[in-house]
Amino acid sequence: MTAGPTIIAVDGPAGSGKSSVSKEVARRLGFGYLDTGAAYRALAWHTLEHGADTSDASAVLDVFGDFDFAISLDPDAYWVRVGGHDVTAAIRESRVTDAVSGVARIPAVRHGVNALFRGLVAESGLPGVVVEGRDITTVVAPDAPVRILLTAAPEVRAARRSAEVTTQDAAAVAAALHRRDASDSTVVDFLTAAPGVQVVDSTDLDFPHTVDAVLAVVERTIGAL
Ligand code: DC
Repeated sequence: MTAGPTIIAVDGPAGSGKSSVSKEVARRLGFGYLDTGAAYRALAWHTLEHGADTSDASAVLDVFGDFDFAISLDPDAYWVRVGGHDVTAAIRESRVTDAVSGVARIPAVRHGVNALFRGLVAESGLPGVVVEGRDITTVVAPDAPVRILLTAAPEVRAARRSAEVTTQDAAAVAAALHRRDASDSTVVDFLTAAPGVQVVDSTDLDFPHTVDAVLAVVERTIGAL
């Protein structure tokens, strides 16, 4: 991903504010927004729809063969589709959230979706794209001119997540988040910044200040856009 649109790579754990901040940064810069976690979630959904076992790599790879994934890069009109079917809401269901780490840990899946991401960005026709996930700064776009790790203290991330998920009690949400962090971090180290990656810690920042902090990194690194 060196030629073509300018990439702002943003990695971070669940509850760091990564998605909402990346979306707002994209709006402010007039860039597209690519949620890479949505591809893993969509594949987990697709695998469950096939009645296949998401912890069985060969079963997942079988259904990956007909994984027809589409995603909007418009930060103001976000949608995700599989086989033309709108799965924007379905991929946030807890059955998908619980299954997604299993799918994301399969190397051939990661390789395949990374190729999808590079194609989406290269063919976007946009001046730039804010790409967010867990391995964007290190694997998907290690040459991106701006690479940011957005972090926050675990208890703050859990509190933010439980404010979003009102159907479960706070302790259950915190436990699920820590379980997923533990599982995800065996696949990709998204808790420590790789060399050259700039850390924005949102523990003590509200949403607008976190957006400002990310935009300040962008401006410091590549100048005003
Ligand atoms: O950001 P999210 O919670 O929507 O991500 C869903 C899952 O996908 C998460 O469990 C980690 C995984 N993921 C990944 O392994 N690599 C990425 N670039 C993005 C997400």
